[in-house]
Amino acid sequence: MAATDWWRTALVYQCYLRSFSDADGDGLGDVNGIRSRLPYLAGLGIDALWINPWYPSPQADAGYDVADYRGIDPAYGTLAGAEALIEEAHELGIRVLLDIVPNHTSDQHPWFQAALAGDAAARARYHFRPGRGADGAEPPNDWTSMFGGPAWTRVGDGDWYLHLFAPGQPDLNWDDPEVRAEFLDVLRFWFDRHVDGFRIDVAHGLVKAPGLPDAHGVGEPHPAWDQDEVHGVYRDWREVADSYDPPRIFVAETWIGDNERVARYLRADELHTAFQFDLLLAPFDAAGMRAVVEGALAAATAVGAPATWVLSNHDVQRVVTRYGRRQVWEDDASVEQRLADATAPSDLRLGRRRARAAALLTFALPGTAYVYQGDELGLEEVEDIPDERRRDPVFEQSGRTLVGRDGCRVPIPWEDSAPPYGFSPPGAAETWLPQPEGWADRTAAAQTGVPGSFLELYRSAIALRREHWVDAGPLTWLETPPDVLAFRRGDVECWLSTSAAPVALPDGEVLLASVPADVDGGLLAPDSAVWLRSRG
Ligand code: NOJ
Repeated sequence: MAATDWWRTALVYQCYLRSFSDADGDGLGDVNGIRSRLPYLAGLGIDALWINPWYPSPQADAGYDVADYRGIDPAYGTLAGAEALIEEAHELGIRVLLDIVPNHTSDQHPWFQAALAGDAAARARYHFRPGRGADGAEPPNDWTSMFGGPAWTRVGDGDWYLHLFAPGQPDLNWDDPEVRAEFLDVLRFWFDRHVDGFRIDVAHGLVKAPGLPDAHGVGEPHPAWDQDEVHGVYRDWREVADSYDPPRIFVAETWIGDNERVARYLRADELHTAFQFDLLLAPFDAAGMRAVVEGALAAATAVGAPATWVLSNHDVQRVVTRYGRRQVWEDDASVEQRLADATAPSDLRLGRRRARAAALLTFALPGTAYVYQGDELGLEEVEDIPDERRRDPVFEQSGRTLVGRDGCRVPIPWEDSAPPYGFSPPGAAETWLPQPEGWADRTAAAQTGVPGSFLELYRSAIALRREHWVDAGPLTWLETPPDVLAFRRGDVECWLSTSAAPVALPDGEVLLASVPADVDGGLLAPDSAVWLRSRG
């Protein structure tokens, strides 16, 4: 495989900047915090980092409301510091992906401010519309915000503007040539600073159906999402990425349920990869997980793209907590049931055990894998954040019916036995979200060198992945008892059991097991996974 194809098999670590490491003591993660932890990341064996938005932002949605696409928020550091980080990561063999937010800007972005001040050209870069009803008091259409409530907010002159997320995130109008040109220039700005690629926020949202029709009654796809014309945007982006040496790459965030529709973003002249969210949504169930893997591989392979495996990220419940709850497909549960499940007590011991197994599954699959910071420490969702400390706009915008995503965004515990667990230096301000008591054994320091710890399992798995799986070729499914999934790639096999009873393993050398003690006697334990190599 050519060196420029690194993205086809990469293990990428998602660094949620706000919560990764705080060097300056304000309780918020920052660029210098990442720099200080680069040796940790190199020791973990990752190929690349994806850093969540670090641009100047009023932080209405944790930085996904960008006021200046070419800078660094002063709370996070400086452009010089960011350039140094990119350089230092590269010296350690770690590539750097940034997060680009093209669907919307911040309401504090100069363009939106000019639009509010009546500048017609600036206004054309967003979706301003008169309202409906006698005095225009009703929103222009029936679209709802992803965070709750209508997707429209009315401004002083009586018009409304579209925001598929928070009111502080006005949607850009991608029919406007200036919008298109601006983002090509933003890509070049960061590529010129040696950034290796971008994760594209809401990649399927940029282009809206002409006329912004009501969603109700128009069928699929929803007029706000996955419109065919969006692909032209990415053909232009690909040209820019390919004009660099080495070529830069993209990973798309496309929450589209249909694998074939996702694969359209991965055609040879468009994007390189797109998150495959089906495993993140699937229950811990061997048959269901196998179906997800088969579907994802078939669709990606058909367009020559690698599948991109994700178990969690900064938008969803921590995997440990999710796996400790009732395991059902979302579609099989009513809305009430889902809400009840989401707050039911979680069996964290079981959740951890399953999360270890699922990690071995995703690392053994063909394609690329993403690890969300803290998953390598086995962190659980923090579910008792007091209401007044919550920061996710989802909480207020949903009328406090949804707690939002703060629970998976709690600052990382690095060392020590009490908050801030080395996240901030001594004497620092309180962390931006509170950390729980009782994380002393979850810190990176407490797990380092401890056989069987989450962190050591990840370290071993990432090293063995590189050694055995990355070049192992296509996957063949193996015959298994019920509630077991197994495949072979080259001379290595991955077995995962969601069965309640132990299952006999074939003969082979155990390379790694998610619950080491239990593989003795050639048995695959319940809720576990094993990597085997054929003998001889
Ligand atoms: C997806 C991001 O991952 C999420 O955190 C954000 O709220 C929305 N896009 C809106 O930008």
